[in-house]
Amino acid sequence: MSTTPAPVSERDMAAYWDRAGRVWVEHQVLLDRIMAPIAEAVVEAAGLANGEAVLDVGCGSGATTFAAAWRTGPTGRAVGVDISPALVELARRRAGEDGLEGVEFLLADAQAHAFKAEYDAIVSRFGVMFFPDPVAAFANLRTALKPSGRLAFAAWRSPEENPLALVPLHAAAPLLPEIPKFEKDAPGRFAFADAERVRSILETSGWRGVEIAPLDVTNPLSFDELMTMSLRVGPLNPILKDADEDLRDTVWDAVAIALEPYVKEGVAQMASACWLVTAKA
Ligand SMILES: C[S@@+](CC[C@H](N)C(=O)[O-])C[C@H]1O[C@@H](n2cnc3c(N)ncnc32)[C@H](O)[C@@H]1O
Repeated sequence: MSTTPAPVSERDMAAYWDRAGRVWVEHQVLLDRIMAPIAEAVVEAAGLANGEAVLDVGCGSGATTFAAAWRTGPTGRAVGVDISPALVELARRRAGEDGLEGVEFLLADAQAHAFKAEYDAIVSRFGVMFFPDPVAAFANLRTALKPSGRLAFAAWRSPEENPLALVPLHAAAPLLPEIPKFEKDAPGRFAFADAERVRSILETSGWRGVEIAPLDVTNPLSFDELMTMSLRVGPLNPILKDADEDLRDTVWDAVAIALEPYVKEGVAQMASACWLVTAKA
């Protein structure tokens, strides 16, 4: 079972992220807190140095771009690219408010955008699993790098290893007419769950020295934050937003009961199981 409906074309994908991007904008503070250690792991793995130029793919509201910019410094460049207008607008606003130098955001489809070979590294936190044609996308991303360029990104392992993805869906399933199905390898949140598939995509698109290692992070969440992540940010949001109030309340109760065992003394330690992937251009 997937937590992301699988858009099948580039147009579907842009429309999907146009909507989902607005949800991410609404919950940016919570999402950034939960995922901060993953941004740090990615920029660390990229080995960024002062003065370098880095491209953050599927940058969302910019957290990983900002983490990268701390390393590349005012003489470097950190550029975020994303397909969601709402998220790029928020990222630009945040950069302006923080007065960050050398940070820019580009509204574009990273699968097809004509990049110049000007970057030392590409980074991404969960921004590369949505390409309708991943081999074409990763071949295109290589064109953005200088010959010695590096790649570092984080992607989710399987839904079974990520309880926050599956538990709410399983709890809600008996109450709803339809629930998103997991289509193995389809573009979406869990498209890169299979490490051998990731290796094959990267090697087919010309990357060398591919290394894939587990990255496990535990996120402390309050019960309310757990419910927000489950019902407002995840795949239940589009299903429930048009549902009548009684159904919404019933699903809320079922999800709350299912998540209760994860909460000890008001805090849930939710495991995030990811891959940390590195490669060379
Ligand atoms: C799961 S979110 C991660 C956002 C951000 N990296 C973060 O960790 O907060 C995935 C992001 O990838 C973006 N995205 C999806 N397909 C894309 C594409 N073809 N080109 C650029 N961005 C894309 C989405 O708009 C979304 O912001």
